Formats: sequence, C-alpha cells, structure tokens
Amino acid sequence: MKTVIAHRGACGYLPEHTLPAYAMAHAMGVDYLEPDLVMTRDGVLLILHDINLAATTDVAEKFPQRRHADNIWYPADFDLAEIRQLCARERLPGRFRRDSQGFHIPTFEALLQLLTELNRLTGRRVGIYPETKHPVFHRERGLAMEEPLLAMLADFGYSRRDDPACIQSFDPDNLAYMRHTLGSELPLIQLLDQMPDNAGLDRIAGYANGIGPDKRLIEDAQRQPVNNNALVREAHERALLVHPYTFRADQLTPGDTDLEAELRRFYFDYGVDGLFCDHPDIACRIAHAHTGTAT
Ligand code: G3P
Ligand code: CA
Repeated sequence: MKTVIAHRGACGYLPEHTLPAYAMAHAMGVDYLEPDLVMTRDGVLLILHDINLAATTDVAEKFPQRRHADNIWYPADFDLAEIRQLCARERLPGRFRRDSQGFHIPTFEALLQLLTELNRLTGRRVGIYPETKHPVFHRERGLAMEEPLLAMLADFGYSRRDDPACIQSFDPDNLAYMRHTLGSELPLIQLLDQMPDNAGLDRIAGYANGIGPDKRLIEDAQRQPVNNNALVREAHERALLVHPYTFRADQLTPGDTDLEAELRRFYFDYGVDGLFCDHPDIACRIAHAHTGTAT
C-alpha cells in the first residue's frame, strides 16, 4: 500500500496551509493531510510553515510596527485575535496569485474539525500528519508544543498506534520526548536533511516509526555503485517507514521531465512507502492505481 501525503494541502493549486487547500486535497483522495505547526503568544497551535509571518501573510502591511530588528514578524508575538486579521498568501512564484483575498491562517483545531467532518460525510478515514516547527524556539518562550499537540490530537480521537495520525519533526529530542516522556503511541517520523549512517538509523528506530528524508538523499544513495538503495533498505530492515519530501510538478528532480515519472521511480523502483506531494491528485493517480486508497 503506497501512501500519499498532501503537503501543506493541495498547495500546488491553492495557497499553502489554508483550509481550502486541505479540503481540495481531501477530495483528491489523499491518505494524509500535512500541516506545519507553530504557536501563538496565547498558546494556540497555528498552521504555518515559518516562525516569520511575512513569508506567507500580509503582516508587513497590517502590523508594520511589530517587525523585530532581525526583520522577522514572529507568530509567537501575536495573539490569535491578531492572527485572524491577516490574509494568507501562497509562497511559491507561478502558483496561486499572491494578491488574492479570502484565505486565512487556520488553527490546528480548525483543520481537525474540517477533517473530521469531511471524513464523516464521505465515509473516508483520511489521516493527519503534523510537523512541529522549531520546538526548541517555542519551548524557550514558554510555548512548548508537545503537550498541547498530543492533547489536541487525543481530543479528536488520535492517540493509539493504529490511529491515522503521524507526527513528524526535524528535531529528534522533540520526537523522543513525545515517545518516552509523554508516552505517545502515535507513529513518529524523523525528518532528515542529511544522510544518516546506520548507527543514526538505529537511534531513530529507538523512538520513531519512520524517516522522512529529503528526496535527494534517496537519489544520492541510489546512485552509489555498490550498496545502492541503501537508505530505503536499511530503514526497512529496522522496520522504519520511508516517506521522502517534497514532490512538486513545478520543481522536479533534475533529469525528470514530468512528475508522474518521478513518482513512479520513488514509489516502485526505490520502494518508498509514501511521499509528501504538492500536487496530490497526480500522486494519488500513481500510488492508488492498483491498490486502492491506503485508508
Ligand atoms: O514535512 C516534510 C517537509 O514538509 C519538510 O519540509 O520545509 O516543507 O516543512 P518543509
Ligand atoms: Ca512540513
């Protein structure tokens, strides 16, 4: 069974991390919705990629005086009531026009409500796949993310190992804390932007259920003259899932000419279990063609 994770929603078509982008992804037949998470000053989990609001909102126009000396507007300086005044904007050029109105930054709770209702009304069981962004930054400001995240997931019925909720992070301490200190049973995925050695994979297998490598790491491992495909194979030998990021029709791996070919190679030649995709309709076409949906 191959998994499709809608990266930031169907963000190839609608502004990233907005409820319309998540609703569209759900309708496309994905297996998981992926939000990045940060926290507001008043302790609300927000769906946002950056700890700088300027990247994907009109905060510079609405709150010019709140910019820090480092040119950053930190979400952790804003209350939810202030966040609600902002318009969300797509990040990447060539995608949804940036001067559009009507898109907002959702709370994590709003996304879980949307997902719950769409699942109920469609009879599907699409899962949730949140990423904790900058957990140390938040903890240092008294805004630790781990407890509120697990509590929110539990409120919506996600707490056991077979519930369709994976938590991902680049920060190993953050994941190990949720596994060993808070006792979470939920699947945990260690994101990777550097090639791990086998000892590193052993450590990851001690607290996580999978890895989420940059797709270039898998390509690099694949090109090795001996021991190729080592990353996927070594992970699988440790019972770790492999979910690489990020697959985009408008940012292909050099040498690829279309997303379908790139996806087929990763799913079926390299044997990854799932992947994060900005154009999830295309990934569903490839991943679910013979197997049906994963949930
Ligand atoms: O979470 C997988 C992938 O999204 C990690 O990179 O920067 O897109 O959150 P980023
Ligand atoms: Ca992410």
